[in-house]
Amino acid sequence: MSTSSDNNNSNGRGLWGSRLAFILAAAGSAVGLGNIWGFPTAAAENGGGGFVLIYILCIVLVGLPVMLAEMVIGRAGEKNPVGALKHLKPGTPWFLVGVLGVFTGFVILSFYTVIAGWTVYYFIQAAGGGLIVPEGQESAEYFGGLFREMTANPGYEILFVAVFTLATTAIVAAGVQKGIERSIKVMMPVLFILLVLLIGRAVTLEGAGEGFRFYLVPDFGEITWRTAVFALGQAFFSLSLGMGVMITYGSYLRKEECLPSSAGYVVATDTLIAVFAGLIVFPVIFFMAATQAVPLDDLVAEGAGLVFVIFPQILSELPGGTAATILFGAAFFLLLAIAALTSAISLMEVVTAHLVDDWKLDRRKAAWGLGGIIFVLAIPSALSFGAVEWLSEGGRFGISLFDLLYTLTFQLFLPVGALGLAIFVGWAWSLKKASEEIQKGTPNFRLEKLWHFMIRYVAPVAILIILINQIVGILGGD
Ligand code: PFF
Repeated sequence: MSTSSDNNNSNGRGLWGSRLAFILAAAGSAVGLGNIWGFPTAAAENGGGGFVLIYILCIVLVGLPVMLAEMVIGRAGEKNPVGALKHLKPGTPWFLVGVLGVFTGFVILSFYTVIAGWTVYYFIQAAGGGLIVPEGQESAEYFGGLFREMTANPGYEILFVAVFTLATTAIVAAGVQKGIERSIKVMMPVLFILLVLLIGRAVTLEGAGEGFRFYLVPDFGEITWRTAVFALGQAFFSLSLGMGVMITYGSYLRKEECLPSSAGYVVATDTLIAVFAGLIVFPVIFFMAATQAVPLDDLVAEGAGLVFVIFPQILSELPGGTAATILFGAAFFLLLAIAALTSAISLMEVVTAHLVDDWKLDRRKAAWGLGGIIFVLAIPSALSFGAVEWLSEGGRFGISLFDLLYTLTFQLFLPVGALGLAIFVGWAWSLKKASEEIQKGTPNFRLEKLWHFMIRYVAPVAILIILINQIVGILGGD
């Protein structure tokens, strides 16, 4: 029997110690590289304010209803995505949506740990004064060199992937309460403090107003289908939706907790932090444009370069000299590293939970085995930034292996997974049972009708329109 004071639910699995722990863990999953690196980069490349507007529409119309749907599936199914779907709809192929989720988890981890490894490397560099440009060197050249030195050097890349994977694995192996919950309760407050510190610095820079204008005032002429496809993919990725993270985390939640407000808090936190990350990055970029006369296009165009080349360049020019560069540089990269770690933990937890629930493996063995596999899978992506030519841009796949995997998950696997989950809840399982599950913790679920409408019609149709558009675009050679 499960009671509200024991640490296992009726399956003998782990349980969160409190609702706050669940919300922090789910927000920790959502807030990641996708917010601090991905969102400002995507906004910069897709015309600023127009992108932000479409993104927020995607969050409200699709993200929030799907987030609640995943939490409901998890808590009702009391298992990982594969096990939960099997439990709720036995003898049907619906569990395949869960299989896609677990597979997507592997793919994301294989490239996510690479960027996460870079953040650890840059944190060490920043804290040790490595972002201070040596006398007589051009800062653009210096930081371009630093980035190339890291990405072209298989030793560094693999070392930092190993460090990051080790940290992730150790936490997941320790269990839901003793590993994930305990570490999240320390990391999330640190993340908020770092964020506030960095925003405080950025908004008081010269040129900040220009940055805000570019970032926050929509230019409707810039909005295209490409913006919408990108914004939806970014929304799923950023909210950790479409692959069952929220199913897995929801499966460790007690029946008396309120699901709709939990989903609301997680979505609001994730969106706020993405928008705040832009408030850090854009003023800083425009500060550079204002004070150094660097053409704006050069500053906003590059993908990975935005955070790892251009941003450090700007950090090295901050008023306050060496101390400011070290303090804000270390704070920025520590923020990224923590955000990445709390997300990677959730990705790994999905696969681990599947191995523990459905394959009956011991958690520790499952996690360490997985850690080893992920480390090996990450190596090709790590080497696809120039260290190995055929894996890199212009090689066998045209784009780098990293970009290929990123695009596939972002623009295909996650939207397809989310579509599957929305159709499952809206049409295949039972909206009545979904509502009953919610009502266990929220007897007065006032937005019930609205949520039914969103998950049944709005979310699937929006995802389908965007997916079809994208496929047509790809076939048309876009
Ligand atoms: N939400 C994370 C981010 O914004 O970086 C990335 C992520 C984690 C995506 C977990 C998907 C996922 F299942």
